[in-house]
Amino acid sequence: MANKDAENQTANRGPSLAVIGCGYWGSKHIRVSCDIRDARMAMAVDPRPDRLEYIRSQYPCVAVSRDIGAVLNNPSIDGVIVATPVDTHFELARAVLQAGKHALVEKPMAMTSAQCRELNAIAEERKRVLMVGHTFEYHPAVGVMRQMIQSGSLGELYYIDSRRLNLGLYRQDANVLWDLAPHDLSIIFCLLEEVPQTIGAWGCAHVLPNVEDVVYAKMGFKSGPTAHVHVSWLDPVKVRQITVVGSDAMLVFDDVQPSEKVRVYQKRFRPRIDGDSYADFQSAYHHGDVHIPAISSSEPLKLEIHDFVNAIMTGKRPRADAMHALRVVEALEAASACLRLKHKHRSNGRDQRIFRRRNMPAGGPEIAIA
Ligand SMILES: NC(=O)c1ccc[n+]([C@@H]2O[C@H](COP(=O)([O-])OP(=O)(O)OC[C@H]3O[C@@H](n4cnc5c(N)ncnc54)[C@H](O)[C@@H]3O)[C@@H](O)[C@H]2O)c1
Repeated sequence: MANKDAENQTANRGPSLAVIGCGYWGSKHIRVSCDIRDARMAMAVDPRPDRLEYIRSQYPCVAVSRDIGAVLNNPSIDGVIVATPVDTHFELARAVLQAGKHALVEKPMAMTSAQCRELNAIAEERKRVLMVGHTFEYHPAVGVMRQMIQSGSLGELYYIDSRRLNLGLYRQDANVLWDLAPHDLSIIFCLLEEVPQTIGAWGCAHVLPNVEDVVYAKMGFKSGPTAHVHVSWLDPVKVRQITVVGSDAMLVFDDVQPSEKVRVYQKRFRPRIDGDSYADFQSAYHHGDVHIPAISSSEPLKLEIHDFVNAIMTGKRPRADAMHALRVVEALEAASACLRLKHKHRSNGRDQRIFRRRNMPAGGPEIAIA
């Protein structure tokens, strides 16, 4: 580790990076950034001495500080990764951009779409890179799935079903929707290259008051397909699975599997209109081959940080840019409003089926209550 760390300090002449927030995910950012040849992992900030001690022990060449000013006022730092709790993202990212530095902000980028727009406006004005940690947009499996969907090899797209469940870490700064669903939403929008027209959501807070730990969301898209997202911190089995169903074929992305994560099933059902016998009905089913596409083993987080460094060096827009952050936060806002309305709906007993977007920021999807 120390050798790698020393190499990190000398082998490149690219941008210098800092990480704010050295918890579970921030420490992964530090590990990966130390491995990026075109950048130098220079500084880590966290208010917790135990986290700084851990970083110091693993990466002796990375300077550590409890003071964010050590990064903001350091002219040699070019890019900053913000990996702190969600409710701190906006303030920290704004300070980073206002200090003239490029920012990669963990998902979701902020707590409201208005905050995302404000960050984007500062980045545009100061010509700084603003990127969001939608790690799955960089997952090679998602790239393969998108290529299959966009090339039409699944036929007409019927629906996408995404499940992200386990006995999870309860967070104080977010419910399960804001913690886990950014992954599913960013994947679905990336696969369809489209944002939803409508969103409906249902959720329940079983353990902590007002912190939903199980949420189901349903989305409708103009081009036809629907998408369903089920996220839970209260499930005995870890599930990370996305199913995509088309008229010609279906695929499953199972991210819990160590390899062969995507399987494409040549299965379909097309009812015959010219017969009603049992044999006619059976012949309407097609059970063909199962294909396992080759998928690169590149680490998604490494590809993400590479994109950040490349954007800093070339001025090219990163894949997971501020607009991608905004479309996810708009969907989260709409789903959250739906959860709130649902509670209201239950308590006042009125028959409300579809709500137009009232009191919601402009631009996002409509809220549909099933
Ligand atoms: N992209 C992904 O796949 C992925 C995975 C996990 C977490 N995340 C995101 O990463 C972020 C952090 O999550 P985590 O699981 O690492 O949380 P964590 O609680 O393990 O770590 C957060 C760290 O931030 C520090 N911190 C808090 N406030 C701070 C401040 N004002 N300035 C500096 N440091 C501060 C805390 O001391 C802690 O060490 C969240 O936004 C989460 O959504 C992303």
